[in-house]
Amino acid sequence: KQILIINGPNLNLLGKREPDIYGNRSFVDYLKTLEAMFPDVQLRYFQSNHEGELLDKIHELGFTIDGIVINAGAYTHTSIALADALSAVTAPAIEVHISNVHARESFRHHSYLSAKCKGIIVGLGLKGYEMAVRYLLSEQPSAN
Ligand code: DQA
Repeated sequence: KQILIINGPNLNLLGKREPDIYGNRSFVDYLKTLEAMFPDVQLRYFQSNHEGELLDKIHELGFTIDGIVINAGAYTHTSIALADALSAVTAPAIEVHISNVHARESFRHHSYLSAKCKGIIVGLGLKGYEMAVRYLLSEQPSAN
């Protein structure tokens, strides 16, 4: 099985960025833990600070892989284009946010992506990615 994990803008700074909100661990470090947890799964990781590159990656892999875990960072709250891309491809997606966006500023309460995703995991830190991968692996191909 192949799962695409997509991180959007500023998530390359995890570990250094507002650690009281996002924690002390870099995503690249966490990814090693994830890979060890799912040795039989091909985890494809992509991070970009550029909206168009996130779109291109969803287009490139979204018709062939088994699922997408997406944390689009602030594009979550702004990007109709990313929502359209998730609608366009066939792979089911799970939206993840490290912080509890609903306990933060009101502009973080709305997501353009949520309606295009099977489910949403917010506020559980990096563990949300693991839970999302676990769910996607348990998905049956016809269970949409
Ligand atoms: C975030 C929440 C977003 O509101 C914010 O813009 C981020 C990170 C999270 O993982 O908690 O960049 O997606």
